[in-house]
Amino acid sequence: MTSDTNETPKSPSSSDDVDSSTRQHMPVADDIPSDNEFEIEVAQRVKRLPPYMFGRINNLLYQKRRAGEDVIDMGMGNPSDPPEQLVIDKLAEAAADPRVHGYSKSNGIQNLRREVASKYLKKYGVRLDPEEELMVCLGSKEGFSHMCLALMGPGDTAIVPAPYFPVHTYAVALASANVISLEVADSDKFLSNIAYTCEQMYPRPKLLILNYPHNPSTVTVEQKFYDDVVKIAKRYELMVISDFAYADIAFDGYQPPSFLASEGASDVGVEFTTMSKGYNMAGWRIGFCAGNRHMIQALATIKGYYDYGMFQAVQVAAIMALRETEKAVEKQSSIYQQRRDVLVDGLNRIGWDVQSPRAGMFLWAQIPEKWRQQMSTMDFAMKLLEHGNVAVSPGSGFGAAGDGYLRMALVENEERLRQGVRQIKTCLS
Ligand SMILES: Cc1ncc(COP(=O)(O)O)c(C=O)c1O
Repeated sequence: MTSDTNETPKSPSSSDDVDSSTRQHMPVADDIPSDNEFEIEVAQRVKRLPPYMFGRINNLLYQKRRAGEDVIDMGMGNPSDPPEQLVIDKLAEAAADPRVHGYSKSNGIQNLRREVASKYLKKYGVRLDPEEELMVCLGSKEGFSHMCLALMGPGDTAIVPAPYFPVHTYAVALASANVISLEVADSDKFLSNIAYTCEQMYPRPKLLILNYPHNPSTVTVEQKFYDDVVKIAKRYELMVISDFAYADIAFDGYQPPSFLASEGASDVGVEFTTMSKGYNMAGWRIGFCAGNRHMIQALATIKGYYDYGMFQAVQVAAIMALRETEKAVEKQSSIYQQRRDVLVDGLNRIGWDVQSPRAGMFLWAQIPEKWRQQMSTMDFAMKLLEHGNVAVSPGSGFGAAGDGYLRMALVENEERLRQGVRQIKTCLS
């Protein structure tokens, strides 16, 4: 089977395999009461997952909204601005074409892959073969998760940055593999810890997961960092996945580098990008995987079994967005930059000590010392929501390395961010 045929092989237990004469003699369980109940036993891989850390916050947020309260919501990195009108119009026009409604190619239509290849060439000087080195995913999170499933299994280990974006850890866990998390805050230390772990551990880690600009810590790197990663990966036969979700949102002239622009990167790894953030198309579910052809082939094989590709009208509109809305993406970045300034200035004015990130959609704000000593990170975030009507993500939801921090998404407008700071001040005074 190839990923393009979308043919599902027959299951060995398919009903076609059951002889019809056997079927006639199957006993009918007339004597079992229709209300007979049995315990639903879910798989170990589901039981291994920890409780959802943002559940408490989300429940309270939901209750407050239902009660009609106005909450300043900096919780989720969910863009609140729409995509450009011409992209929406293109979607409507493409959807009116009767030929686009069937199943699509599971690796994406060729013109979309070509458009992504041309963006990589123009922006990063990276040459990609759209046939074998590029794949369209139903959002980068879907592609990332299935890539982990394609590469990892019991006994394998992945190195994950800490604090972690939850799927970086749980996609590995869902693939029944192990995670080693290494602190991402100091990039030199992170690199040397990766090399040390590869040197000392047996069997060696198989996969390194990177994410710059990093969510949640906002750490960024330069190209040299990836040059060193490629050297380490080649030395220790370590595959690399770079999650480049915030490629398009950067401030003060900084341009986040692509992992694939380092020499030899495509020999060892892939990179995921998305239209969710810079293009304000999060609900559309469009992501891309680029780089190592063997890893992409493995992802294509898995996806060939799981999905039938993306609605073609969405792909046609995505081409339009990539081709025509570069200026709007830059403008969106400067909107985030202004929001960043408003929130950093506001929090620092009320006595916090917040660093200014140079990319991404978040502030990673340390909770003031006084409050860190008094209560847990989760309780502090709950206090802001309960008494201040401000929703943030507690850093502890991103693992122990996030303790003492809050992640604040820049998805409210400047006026509401100012209001949010006032509410935080009142709530804590
Ligand atoms: C680091 C990171 N990767 C991936 C994603 C998900 O992106 P997508 O919408 O393309 O699945 C997010 C979304 O918040 C993210 O922060």
